[in-house]
Amino acid sequence: MRAYDIIWKKRNGGILSREEIEFFVRGYTAGGIPDYQAAALAMAIYFRGLEARETADLTMAMVYSGDRVDLGGIRGIKVDKHSTGGVGDTTTLVLVPLVAAAGAPVAKMSGRGLGHTGGTVDKLESIPGFKVSLEPMEFVEAVNRVGAAVVGQTGNMVPADKKLYALRDVTATIESVPLIASSVMSKKIAAGADAIVLDVKVGSGAFMKTPEAAFELARAMVDIGTMVGRRTVAVVTQMDQPLGYAVGNALEVREAIDTLKGEGPADLHELCLLLGAHMLQLAGVVADVQSGTERLQQVIAEGLAVAKFKEMIVSQSGDPAVVDRPELLPRASFTREVKAEQDGFVRSIDAQEVGLAAMMLGAGRETKEDHIDMSAGVVVGKKVGDRVQPGETLVTLHANRQEKLAEAEQRIRSAYRVGAERPSPPPLVYGVVTAEGVRRF
Ligand code: URA
Ligand code: CA
Repeated sequence: MRAYDIIWKKRNGGILSREEIEFFVRGYTAGGIPDYQAAALAMAIYFRGLEARETADLTMAMVYSGDRVDLGGIRGIKVDKHSTGGVGDTTTLVLVPLVAAAGAPVAKMSGRGLGHTGGTVDKLESIPGFKVSLEPMEFVEAVNRVGAAVVGQTGNMVPADKKLYALRDVTATIESVPLIASSVMSKKIAAGADAIVLDVKVGSGAFMKTPEAAFELARAMVDIGTMVGRRTVAVVTQMDQPLGYAVGNALEVREAIDTLKGEGPADLHELCLLLGAHMLQLAGVVADVQSGTERLQQVIAEGLAVAKFKEMIVSQSGDPAVVDRPELLPRASFTREVKAEQDGFVRSIDAQEVGLAAMMLGAGRETKEDHIDMSAGVVVGKKVGDRVQPGETLVTLHANRQEKLAEAEQRIRSAYRVGAERPSPPPLVYGVVTAEGVRRF
C-alpha cells in the first residue's frame, strides 16, 4: 500500500477502505508518512468528503493511535458530554455534579482552554486547593465513591488527531464536517465514554455559523457513534450571545453554584436540564427525556445537586466553603461597569467579541504558555431582548490589570447593538439529532 495511491483515490472521489485509512493514520502518526502527504489527503477529503463508514473508520483509527482510558472499574454506563465550544459556556461545571446527583456516574476528562476562556479544568482550579491531576486508579475510585470526578487530560491520547489538527490548522482544512466529526468523536471514545451527549453550538460565538451546518455536523457525529457502538445524541443550540451571564473562570464557578442551587440564569438552567436529561436517559437512569428533566429539577430543588458539588470538591482536595461563601473564590482588584448610552432594546450581542474582551482581561490564553487570571472576566448585565436606558449597566468588567479595562470596554461597546425595536428572543435550542433521526424545534 502507498500513501500516494490513497491520496489519488480520494482526490478522484473514490471510497477508502478501512485498511487504507488505518494504513494512512498509522503511518502519519509514526512519522513514516510526511506532513505534505497528510495535507494533500486532508485537502482531498475537504473537497470530496467521506462517507459515514469512512468517517467511522477514520475515528477508530485515530482512537487506536494512542492511549485509551479504561473506565471499566466504574459501575454503570459512563456518559460523556462535549460542547463544540461557546462563550461563557458554563454547562459542564453544572452538569457533572447535577447528573451525578441524579444517579449517573460522571467520569469527566477535560481539556484546558485556548482562546476565549479557560476550559472546565481551568475553571475548577479557581477553587482553592482543587486538584485535577488524579492517577487513573484515583479517578476511578473517586467516581465510584462520589459519583463524579473531573481530571485534566494526561498521557498520549489520540496523537493522530493532535498532529492532524495542527496540520489542518495551517492548511485551510479545518472546516470539513467529516474531519471535525472524527476529531471530536475520537477524543470522547479514547476517554472511555460508553455514550455521548454533544452540544453543537451555532452562531456568532461558535464554529458553525448556520443551523444547517450545525445539523450536518451533528448528524455526522451521531452516525459515527452509532456505527461504533456508542449511543450518541446531539443537541443543536444557539450561541449568538454568551450563555448565562458570566464569562471567566471563577466567575463561571460562581454562576455554576447559583445554577446548582436553582438560582442561575434561565438559559443556562434550561440548557443544563436538556443536556442532563439526555445524559440520564443514555445512562439508563430514566426511560425518557421528560422524566430526566423532572428528576433533575427535583435534585436541584432538594439541594442534592449543590451538595454533590461540595462532595466532589472535597474529594478533589478543594475548599467546599466556596459553595456557601462564593466570596472566597478569587476576586479581581478592579471592576468597571460598561453603561448604556442609548435608550432601547438590546438587539444583538456578538458573543465572540465578548469572549475576546474576557480573554484580554486575563480570563483566557492566547498561547498554550499563557497564564490565566482566575478572577478576570466579564459579567453580562443585559441580554438580547432586554430593555436598556442610558446609564444602565450592559456589562461589568473584572480585571487585575487596570490598564486592560479601556480596551475591553471598547470591545464590549462594539459587541452590543441597541435599537428602538424589541427583537424576538432567539431560540435557545434548534433541535435534537439521535440515531432515529433529526427533530427540529
Ligand atoms: N474541535 C476539534 O476537536 N476538532 C476539530 O477538528 C474542530 C474542532
Ligand atoms: Ca456563563
